Amino acid sequence: MNQRAVATVDLGAIRHNLAQVRRYAPNSRVMAAVKADAYGHGAIPVSRTLESAGADALAVACIEEAVKLREGQVQLPIALLEGILSLDEAALSARERLQIVVNDFWQIDLLEQLPVSASLQIWFKLDSGMHRLGFPLDAVSRLCEVLARHPDWDFCGWITHLAQADEPESPFTLEQIARYDAALDGVPGARSIGNSAGVLGWPDARRDWVRPGLMLYGASPMQGKTGADWGLLPALTLRSRVIALRRYEAGSPIGYGGSYHCPEDMLVGVVALGYADGIHRSLASGTPVKVAGQPAFIAGRVSMDMITLDLRQVPDARIGDEVMLWGRDAPIEVLAGYADTLAYELFCRLTNRVQFEYV
Ligand SMILES: Cc1ncc(COP(=O)(O)O)c(C=O)c1O
Repeated sequence: MNQRAVATVDLGAIRHNLAQVRRYAPNSRVMAAVKADAYGHGAIPVSRTLESAGADALAVACIEEAVKLREGQVQLPIALLEGILSLDEAALSARERLQIVVNDFWQIDLLEQLPVSASLQIWFKLDSGMHRLGFPLDAVSRLCEVLARHPDWDFCGWITHLAQADEPESPFTLEQIARYDAALDGVPGARSIGNSAGVLGWPDARRDWVRPGLMLYGASPMQGKTGADWGLLPALTLRSRVIALRRYEAGSPIGYGGSYHCPEDMLVGVVALGYADGIHRSLASGTPVKVAGQPAFIAGRVSMDMITLDLRQVPDARIGDEVMLWGRDAPIEVLAGYADTLAYELFCRLTNRVQFEYV
């Protein structure tokens, strides 16, 4: 590794994690979430990998993300989870063979302005309790009337999204599923409920289609667990290197604001990675990382380009030593806990100053 900060994405791990999804949900088709640049992993290489590994469809947030995938020669069906925002987007979706997740009647009004010849693929999204996007459940009969009016539309099915599936103790997930089932009782059309937490923790959420995101990247959506606990392989390893080493006397302040004082005479290392690379500034002193495979800890504030480390447990550290922020030996879920956030956000925060390499 010659570069300063490198994210190595193991595409084999993504294949493995897709196979795990199939093991958990053997009777479901898989719509793989690759929005937000495949959760920061690189939408094109990840989508091509998922396509060749047999995913059934992809999901992105918005049309710009979908068009990039089509430009990258990705042929799989692609669903727009936020639907369309304008008539132009509706027409472009038809041209690019995108599946529109329709979540409100104003979007239906837009679609109805398109010529009958436009080949529209649509999902309806129902709000079973997330209270973010989606039709209220009592809109189902009106939606069935819309479908009856449009035999030319290719109807993909009914989506709902779980709000608390990452909390195994919460009764809310089963309540949401029960409400969704009751609203669709006797109504034809494929069903889609589970995201990663749904796939892993809630067998009843594994319906005709599952929509995993995070688990494909090898991380656990469930609190207190890591991807390895679910048989997943972390796909992304984030590494940098030690660029300076100094010994400081007990009591020496380290970094901006002097928020850390050396508790004894000790070795401190500087790592070439900071919040401009996407590392959370909220990671406090004591956050664990690995230096040459040994445990080390953040000492002082994360700054824009650098982090300072307590190297008391790495007495032989040398300039150029590899520093692993997260990866197979340093679960991202642990680091996320120290930043009071989730693996999702750590992934998505990585900036384009980090070099990406694919293996
Ligand atoms: C509607 C919908 N389905 C599926 C997913 C994938 O979720 P996860 O990454 O938790 O598996 C998301 C992500 O936010 C989503 O919004």
